[in-house]
Amino acid sequence: MNFIKVKTYEELSQKGAAMIAALVVNKPKAVLGLATGSSPVGIYKNLAAWNKAGYVDFSEVTSVNLDEYLGLKGDHPQSYRYFMQENLFNHVNIRPEATHVPNGCAEDYAKECEGYDALVESLGGTDLQLLGIGLDGHIGFNEPADHFEKATHVVDLHPSTIEANARFFNSADEVPKQAVTMGMLSIMRAKKILLIANGPAKKEVLEKAFNGPITPMLPASLLQLHPDVTVIYSEQ
Ligand code: F6R
Repeated sequence: MNFIKVKTYEELSQKGAAMIAALVVNKPKAVLGLATGSSPVGIYKNLAAWNKAGYVDFSEVTSVNLDEYLGLKGDHPQSYRYFMQENLFNHVNIRPEATHVPNGCAEDYAKECEGYDALVESLGGTDLQLLGIGLDGHIGFNEPADHFEKATHVVDLHPSTIEANARFFNSADEVPKQAVTMGMLSIMRAKKILLIANGPAKKEVLEKAFNGPITPMLPASLLQLHPDVTVIYSEQ
């Protein structure tokens, strides 16, 4: 595991964006696994600026996102589809049809989940999976459980996740209680993993995830078994 410690969120966002940009420059048809949440916002800002400046071209890139809240349509301001449009897709030259976010309002979730795994499989997995980490050790929305969930699935969000994400809503009551998330298999199949975490609040969970036992009670700990993981941690 390659652990990069930086001082500021700006540094984290520059280094993270540089890794993604370098990959896309080397492989214009790259498949990017993308994340939402507050951690990647700076990375997306940099990628948008570098795309505009002509340094990196997204015209042949395909993206697959990790997760989506259940019950939120793509035009809901708190949905992850909306987040991706606002923070990245509307600002780079990626083809809209090449961007994939799980459907949080599927009629048949079992079919939606199967279809999402088939999609990732048909793309040959992701070249790089960008991940944040939850305070409870979740990646995507793979929450602590008694086993690792391999496939894309519907998950009950943990109370700590609901509380952490309440900052994006008017109140914790408004946070959806369930989400659909890519499972651990598609995440682990990524050729490269880039996990970003900023601020002292994430220090303890990072320590446990990468230096503690591998356990489904802390899903990110499975990343210890991945051959190519970079963690960028910023102190602020
Ligand atoms: C988001 C996701 C989550 C977040 C995690 C950290 O797509 O999959 O695992 O990465 O909850 O969120 P932030 O970055 O807001 O601390």
